[in-house]
Amino acid sequence: MSALDGRRVLLVVSGGIAAYKSAILVRRLRQAGARVDVVMTASAEKMVGAATFHALSGRPVHTNLWTEPLAHVELGREADLAIVAPATANILARMAHGLADDMATSTLLAAACPILVCPAMNFRMWENAATRENMESLRAHGLHVLGPEDGELAEGESGPGRMSEPDVIISVASRLLRGESRLEGRKVVVTAGPTLASIDPVRFVSNRSSGRMGMALASSAWLRGADVVLIAGPTSVEPPYGPRLIRVETSQEMGTALEKELQDASVLIMAAAVSDFFVPDPAAEKIKRQDRDVLDVSLEAGPDLLAQTRAMRVERQVFTLGFALETTDALENARRKLEAKGLDMVAVNEAGRPDRGFEADTNQVTLIDAAGVVEELPLLQKTDVAERMLDRLEERLS
Ligand code: CTP
Repeated sequence: MSALDGRRVLLVVSGGIAAYKSAILVRRLRQAGARVDVVMTASAEKMVGAATFHALSGRPVHTNLWTEPLAHVELGREADLAIVAPATANILARMAHGLADDMATSTLLAAACPILVCPAMNFRMWENAATRENMESLRAHGLHVLGPEDGELAEGESGPGRMSEPDVIISVASRLLRGESRLEGRKVVVTAGPTLASIDPVRFVSNRSSGRMGMALASSAWLRGADVVLIAGPTSVEPPYGPRLIRVETSQEMGTALEKELQDASVLIMAAAVSDFFVPDPAAEKIKRQDRDVLDVSLEAGPDLLAQTRAMRVERQVFTLGFALETTDALENARRKLEAKGLDMVAVNEAGRPDRGFEADTNQVTLIDAAGVVEELPLLQKTDVAERMLDRLEERLS
């Protein structure tokens, strides 16, 4: 369930061209189960009509302080979260100075909830000393700031000034509205995707891991307030917003990143499909086909990253969740891996079925903890599997 489900979100739209993206934001907020009340400034109404927001939110849009004299206090009091998107230089200046000269700024001044501002403007306006000072004040007042992003701006220039995308705003809003979690403030390291071993500059040995399960776990931990580091092998799946991303290719690179990141971590989730074998002497030049009928490649066993980090994990009491990918005797093999690799919990995955494991959007895992408790989770979307797995992990986290 989304943290936005059943929550009241106040969306303040000011007069930037990015206001059209806020229409999409309203749709996404509602899809996530939120009730959305929209307040628009007079300039915003010149960009997008109030009727658009009325239709998308399914609720009246508030624009005029004088026709609804008490609305600003009620809206501010009822909201669980206020989002100002787009936030122009003008509304940020007015907010920084506590002005209440229209419906938008009066409502924000009366709001008792957290406020997330998503600035959008020309990059020179953003870099102007006056805007910088205003942003410093707003941060000091406890407001949350997201963006602006770097990129192409409406007037044809480029620089920091684009409003963050609606999906990113939804992620940050969800994290702000999260419930209590034992993961909050803890460092969680997640590995995801395959690693690869080069044969020559163009060929490699790897596996079918898409990285989806690890990325879903990283995203879910971040939404629970954890400080998440995602160490990912080569994947075509877009990494989630939030976790700090470290890209690696080989098992050795993943091992180096892990050893560094585990120094101050509380939790390790080892979802990567680490290649067990590597080519010790990859060819420096492309191996020509020529008249070959056979190409012999000899593979050597590489590091077992869980074994390699075991002593450090035990010493620093890093709660470790590993996976076991099995084709036969799944539970028995998984129990053996839990023991041999020093895990606190293992998630058993069956390989070779189209609806679970590698490449699928869905997954079915069975969890086994160090005390031997076995729980079979149903076949679910990987995002839902991640939620359930983290619920179970949290229960066991001291
Ligand atoms: N793993 C690891 N280093 C490796 C291989 C796997 O750290 N070189 C981790 C995986 O990320 C996973 C767990 O070990 O969390 C089990 O991986 P799995 O592929 O199921 O097992 P293997 O250790 O490769 O053993 P086997 O090939 O015998 O099944």
